Amino acid sequence: MNLIEARGLQRDFVVPRPTTFGRARVQTALEPTDLDIVAGSSVGIIGESGSGKSTLVRLLLGLDRPTAGTVAVDGRTVDAGASARTLHWLRRLTGLVFQDPYASLDPRMTAGQIVGEPLWALDVAGDRRARVLEVLSQVGLEPEMADRYPHEFSGGQRQRIALARAIVHRPRILVGDEPLSALDVTVRAQILELLVELRRTADLTLILVSHDIGVVQNLCDTVVVMKDGAIVERGATASVLRDPRHDYTRALLAAVPVIPAPPA
Ligand SMILES: Nc1ncnc2c1ncn2[C@@H]1O[C@H](COP(=O)(O)OP(=O)(O)OP(=O)(O)O)[C@@H](O)[C@H]1O
Ligand SMILES: [Mg+2]
Repeated sequence: MNLIEARGLQRDFVVPRPTTFGRARVQTALEPTDLDIVAGSSVGIIGESGSGKSTLVRLLLGLDRPTAGTVAVDGRTVDAGASARTLHWLRRLTGLVFQDPYASLDPRMTAGQIVGEPLWALDVAGDRRARVLEVLSQVGLEPEMADRYPHEFSGGQRQRIALARAIVHRPRILVGDEPLSALDVTVRAQILELLVELRRTADLTLILVSHDIGVVQNLCDTVVVMKDGAIVERGATASVLRDPRHDYTRALLAAVPVIPAPPA
């Protein structure tokens, strides 16, 4: 069953005039796009910088309004016509993690407040404090860390906090926009493992924007390749990576640094 269905989804931005006498320009960040995301699947979105990846996911989540086209999530329209009530419902359904674990955490709130905030904001029933501690432990943080502030954590721990916040309300869809790229290699591997574990235990649909094909290979059953605001290739990750159809996908794969095997 399709959890998300986008039809003819398009987004234009008006780029302001460079000078008083220059002309405003319309830039199409997303060409009319159709996309189906099956419930329980894991979709990787790859493509060079500026290809429209973030624009696409923002539209899918009702965080931005399309210039044209429609998005339905679980059969409900979430694009331009969506009511406040539908958008609230969509917030409950989704969790979001972004690239920069520092910018996305309010420095004046404790980790526990940050992680628990969606429970209050979305009016989720149950023992909220207990849920916060549970989810902190799930991402590998100690309960006493709930009372500390973001600056007291390392970058990797902050990204764990961001992840805990994204899953605390038990979303059915988890969206990561480059959630791993600000992290060093070891921390990245740990968070990647966490995401694999979450997928296994929580019946999540995962949408992951990444420059890192290795991450997509590990985590995603389907891959979507974007270029210049359009999807140029899509399919099962294994087959797309084994036998890329589009020149651009080939180039992207060729650009992946190959780590030499250690000497025997
Ligand atoms: N708010 C905006 N106003 C004007 N142009 C925008 C806006 N947001 C995005 N764009 C333009 O739309 C295009 C697609 O941007 P988008 O952020 O979706 O790319 P991306 O694939 O996520 O890139 P990156 O990998 O660098 O994050 C780019 O050319 C960008 O400059
Ligand atoms: Mg982006």
